[in-house]
Amino acid sequence: MDAKTNTKTAQLTIGDKNWSLPVYPGTIGPDVIDIGKLYSQTGMFTYDPGFTSTGSCESKITFIDGDEGVLLYRGYPIEQLAEHGDFLETCYLLLYGELPTAAQKADFDYRVTRHTMVHEQMMRFFQGFRRDAHPMAVMVASVGALSAFYHDSTDISDPHQRMVASMRMIAKLPTISAMAFKYSIGQPFVYPKNDLDYASNFLRMCFAVPCEEYKVNPVLSTAMDRIFILHADHEQNASTSTVRLAGSSGANPFACIAAGIACLWGPAHGGANEAALKMLTEIGKPERIPEFVARAKDPNDSFRLMGFGHRVYKHYDPRAKIMQRTCHEVLKEMNIKDDLLDVAVELERIALHDEYFIEKKLYPNVDYYSGITLRAMGFPTTMFTVLFALARTVGWIAQWKEMIEDPHQKIGRPRQLYTGATRRDYMPITRRK
Ligand code: ACO
Repeated sequence: MDAKTNTKTAQLTIGDKNWSLPVYPGTIGPDVIDIGKLYSQTGMFTYDPGFTSTGSCESKITFIDGDEGVLLYRGYPIEQLAEHGDFLETCYLLLYGELPTAAQKADFDYRVTRHTMVHEQMMRFFQGFRRDAHPMAVMVASVGALSAFYHDSTDISDPHQRMVASMRMIAKLPTISAMAFKYSIGQPFVYPKNDLDYASNFLRMCFAVPCEEYKVNPVLSTAMDRIFILHADHEQNASTSTVRLAGSSGANPFACIAAGIACLWGPAHGGANEAALKMLTEIGKPERIPEFVARAKDPNDSFRLMGFGHRVYKHYDPRAKIMQRTCHEVLKEMNIKDDLLDVAVELERIALHDEYFIEKKLYPNVDYYSGITLRAMGFPTTMFTVLFALARTVGWIAQWKEMIEDPHQKIGRPRQLYTGATRRDYMPITRRK
């Protein structure tokens, strides 16, 4: 962590006592109040369930301005990276902090590509799962199991091993994700083909069969690559914080990424695109939209518009705009007329003009259009979160490495406001009523 200089202080008054707390500025974004010594000085903790006002770390990787709808990776706007770059370039940027030169990019692509195969025994590991297992259950287990197969990259104190583990995960996640898909539909695994680019190779591993030639559609591989870029990192969200917390204990990187995948699975996080598609299917036709909008606004109904709202974005999610364009491109290429797209466009139009959504600053998020797009590409809904995990792996790794390489890093250990029973004595079972 950089030596921090505080130009401002915050004053805290409790009863008749005063404390002065340092305030640190970021390069952009809100200042933070340093409460690290609060407990030792005041005997009190802060209380912030859901961490809505808590900065958990210092980071140089990703910046979000939720009010303005801005997302930057290492300072570069997501729109520019998605328009002009490719996913492996974004991986390099997130990991190393700068865009690569042509030589650095060629070397990086080569290193990632040489790690795409998984240990042959992983095949047998897969056979243990039920065919109808959710692919995310398979992902959590398989990525955690990598630590059992690659002992030579689990020593987190060795920078070389850290980088090898990072390369392995970026390279093998597409292979493992495709294997999870193939296993669930009873088809043979397809080995990676290293003369293809990252996204094309993944699509081939998912959709090729041994009995036919498979030609990757360039529109679909461009869309896949862009979807990976959009999901590559998103600062200290729930799954990334999970990875950091797991890593803070010194756990190996494969175990930490498996923890991130487990967290991502939830419907309020990575599972939202699956939920958004289900909701659009349930709505079915534009005429039924008002009924669902009314339910979303009803305080006595727990129903929410899935793919709407975000903890950080109180403006249009910049990824959602790119996702919407990608969705139209994919449907046009596949010559698909999907009624759900009409429902989605109309629902968005109605919601964006509705006082409830305007007042609460609820806009479509990245998941709103991604479900329709992925379905048009041939993925079943159960694979949506897997694709998100594949793409987010590089962000998790970059954040994990940043934490491990911070000399001031310590184990994450939040405190609590205890409201349970006070001290009481054990009662033998015969005397309990
Ligand atoms: N539909 C209807 N009302 C909503 C929605 C929605 N999608 N989202 C939030 N609200 C309302 C809440 O009811 C709440 O109203 P209230 O103030 O009257 O109680 C208010 O807006 C604020 O909502 P919170 O849940 O407090 O906001 P929070 O920041 O905690 O939640 C979240 C963000 C979880 C994303 C929420 O908007 C949501 O559940 N959205 C649907 C699920 C979704 O799309 N998740 C994907 C997130 S993006 C990602 O993970 C990649």
